[in-house]
Amino acid sequence: MLIIKYNFMVNYQSLGFVNTREMYAKAVSGSYAVPGYNFNNMEQLQAIIGACLETQSPVILQISKGAREYANQTLLQYLGKGAVEMMKVMAEEQNLKEIPIALHLDHGDSYELCVAVIESGFSSVMIDGSALVYDENVALTKKVVDYAHGHDITVEGELGVLAGIEDDVEAAKSIYTQSEEVEDFVEKTGVDSLAISVGTSHGAYKFKPGQKPEIRLDILREIEVKIPGFPIVLHGSSSIPQDYVAMVNKYGGKMEAAIGIPEEQLREAAKSAVCKINIDSDGRLVMTGMIRKIFTEKPEVFDPRKYLGPAREALKAMYARKNKEVLGSAGQV
Ligand code: G3H
Ligand code: 13P
Ligand code: ZN
Repeated sequence: MLIIKYNFMVNYQSLGFVNTREMYAKAVSGSYAVPGYNFNNMEQLQAIIGACLETQSPVILQISKGAREYANQTLLQYLGKGAVEMMKVMAEEQNLKEIPIALHLDHGDSYELCVAVIESGFSSVMIDGSALVYDENVALTKKVVDYAHGHDITVEGELGVLAGIEDDVEAAKSIYTQSEEVEDFVEKTGVDSLAISVGTSHGAYKFKPGQKPEIRLDILREIEVKIPGFPIVLHGSSSIPQDYVAMVNKYGGKMEAAIGIPEEQLREAAKSAVCKINIDSDGRLVMTGMIRKIFTEKPEVFDPRKYLGPAREALKAMYARKNKEVLGSAGQV
């Protein structure tokens, strides 16, 4: 992968972002979770910002390694800056409070990548060493923390392996986070938040038909006892709404066995030390469902605004509902 080195440092504050420290402190004490929503293009970003501003929710905008490769890292960074400026104008127009926005690297897989995004204006990074053996995960995570904290950037680490696709690392089965390790990991690395594996899973096919989705709240509680009040992150938390699965299938798609995490379980987890919940696949599903529907019902349409616009509206409605009914982040600014 190409990692562009900047010979100057773009400070995230100058782009209008905040790091995650205060967001997480408020989320832990307020018993809700901040959304970690991924974006790869303008319509997703507009939907996320519009929904979070209207519901008055803080938000963590997430860019994966794949998103950087797809959409160009420099463009994404300035789309993020544009989103902050747009949010300020919209807040003024709609007489709403401005919302805090963090720009976060999702599933960073190397020290060099973390440094590159920090230099280009990100306010938060994840270093995902979960596929490494424990000591190597500790060493890599600490190296990133030492660099990031020098620039007041917050770092998310990961312990335990989620089932599904962790970017390029495919984990065949979930390896739950061991509560005995978390205290040592947090202490040795100095991370600001920790992604754990307690039954969630990446992608649209989280469970096989007949399998019972379950967030292991018992393991989560054990972890909370070991590191009280420490911000915990849940990845792989899409719920794969079945009305949109049906829409995709009705209009020519093929996603028969797609299944996600029940929203009531996420609501329970958000009341605990879980302070960020990552959702990407649900957004992909909503956009795809809407676009397929319009292509089928209005085959004469060829202006991308005529199908991306309605997809963006459906996406915005989905994010707003998540903030209100699942994460509890609505009204928290
Ligand atoms: O957890 C992974 C996110 O959904 C990002 O996926 O690497 O395909 O952009 P991606
Ligand atoms: P989903 O695939 O469940 O949306 O998870 C997204 C995620 O964890 C991003 O890091
Ligand atoms: Zn993830």
